[in-house]
Amino acid sequence: MLASRLTISRATAQRVWKSTNNINKRLFATVEDTPNRVHGGLQDKDRIFQNLYLKNSKKWNAPSYDLEASKKIGDWYKTKEIILKGDKWIIDEMKKSGLRGRGGAGFPSGLKWSFMNPPGWEKNVGPRYIVVNADEGEPGTCKDREIIRKEPQKLVEGCLLAGRAMNATAGYIYIRGEFYREAEILQNAIDQAYAAGYLGKDACGSGYSFDLYIHRGMGAYVCGEETALIESIEGKAGKPRLKPPFPAGVGLFGRPSTVTNVETVSVAPTILRRGGDWFNSFGRERNSGTKLFCVSGQVNEPCTFEEEMSIPLKELLEKHCGGVKGGWDNLQAIIPGGSSTPMLTKEISGEVLMDYDDLRGHGSGLGTAAVIVFSKNADVIRGIQRLLAFYKHESCGQCTPCREGSTYLSTMMDRLYKGQANEKEIDMALEITKRVEGHSICAMGEAFSWPYQGLVRHFKPLMLERIKEYKTKNGLLEGGLINGGWVEGGSVANGVVINNDLPKTAFHGEH
Ligand SMILES: Cc1cc2nc3c(=O)[nH]c(=O)nc-3n(C[C@H](O)[C@H](O)[C@H](O)COP(=O)(O)O)c2cc1C
Ligand code: SF4
Repeated sequence: MLASRLTISRATAQRVWKSTNNINKRLFATVEDTPNRVHGGLQDKDRIFQNLYLKNSKKWNAPSYDLEASKKIGDWYKTKEIILKGDKWIIDEMKKSGLRGRGGAGFPSGLKWSFMNPPGWEKNVGPRYIVVNADEGEPGTCKDREIIRKEPQKLVEGCLLAGRAMNATAGYIYIRGEFYREAEILQNAIDQAYAAGYLGKDACGSGYSFDLYIHRGMGAYVCGEETALIESIEGKAGKPRLKPPFPAGVGLFGRPSTVTNVETVSVAPTILRRGGDWFNSFGRERNSGTKLFCVSGQVNEPCTFEEEMSIPLKELLEKHCGGVKGGWDNLQAIIPGGSSTPMLTKEISGEVLMDYDDLRGHGSGLGTAAVIVFSKNADVIRGIQRLLAFYKHESCGQCTPCREGSTYLSTMMDRLYKGQANEKEIDMALEITKRVEGHSICAMGEAFSWPYQGLVRHFKPLMLERIKEYKTKNGLLEGGLINGGWVEGGSVANGVVINNDLPKTAFHGEH
């Protein structure tokens, strides 16, 4: 009896211990699983870009570059005081804000700007430059041009303040050649700022002198790469330089320089006025701030707008773009950060947050926050084929992996999207991308490798199906195709295709 009571009490004790333990576990789990604040729902009072839809310009019946109208939405307020606080204060505030570069790589801006002022920088006497990247060539990206069209004074003021932080003597805005009207608007904004004494000698009466120039590019995508951009301003062909040295050491005209994106620079004045902590209060840790998102593709209302970082992708589309055409269930895939970021499936798109870390955790990236939506009515394979043709065209040809890799990949995709391929060519093309990434002078190698990798990761069955369809249609199921899209037994003799009854057009790219 005693023994059995003992046994019972031990069993009871074990149950109690287990349940306590479970409660503890549950408690821990509860703490861990409690979602952080839900992000999104940015209020108008917290929008940096108040004139993105020209509301202010319409209200004051003034062009977007008009200095006085821009001042009414807060531009150029206490700029002199900010300049007088000095380089260290500005950089500290930028670091506090947590702002990460909006040009694609997401490098912390305050830290990057601080590289211009290493100990003893003053001894290196001579010009120093801030170079603003307004090349905006990444397919799907249309945010910097909107800033220049609608809020050019924010960019001009940003150049002055970022220039002060870097102790720059002058700034260059490198604007893509096709942006003719934008360059005009920007020049008007600069002229008005000069006329008001905000730029030039003793800018804003602060004692700091800063000149600002526009340099128009010729429309090459690669000129958006920071060192190619510097070469281009110097009057040379826009081909990226090998790094190191980095621009902060040897940059434009051999002098210390920093290349930074239009959006990064344009948000700086508001951050400095409202404080780094204010900006840091938006978005998740390490992913702070508000951000311009540009959405294109099969949504009901494609547009560019400002939102809080870390907003769920699904909410972003439904709230600002009227949702996916045909409803969420009609969604096939989404490229979340401009053409060089790998695509996501509908399932991932339904749960991912729009920030650097969550997108990275889901095998993609925030890039330029250019969201490209493919509904089920779109052909994702054709989409990637088109992008790869673009990258092949834009490779500067300087390094072999990029020049040859982009050409091979594009040529293979021209067939793969039609299904005119051997099944194993899907993995052969994938192998090319693995050989290219990390082995080229600039990030163009990754830029064209990742979209293909994303396609294979999520849509390989679709690619295989396409090949099967092609074979069935062309009666090739028996013999099949060998690598290169050739019919077995087909070859070239004296420059003429023989024993290959596929249509002649099958051997030409289609873009
Ligand atoms: C091929 C290529 C094209 C690029 N194009 C652009 C561009 O159009 N605009 C841009 O801001 N950054 C572009 N970048 C990134 C820049 O090299 C650089 O990282 C960026 O301008 C830095 O600005 P941030 O620190 O403000 O992000 C490109 C990079 C590569 C490799
Ligand atoms: S990676 Fe491509 S674009 Fe970049 S330098 Fe090499 S060839 Fe030129």
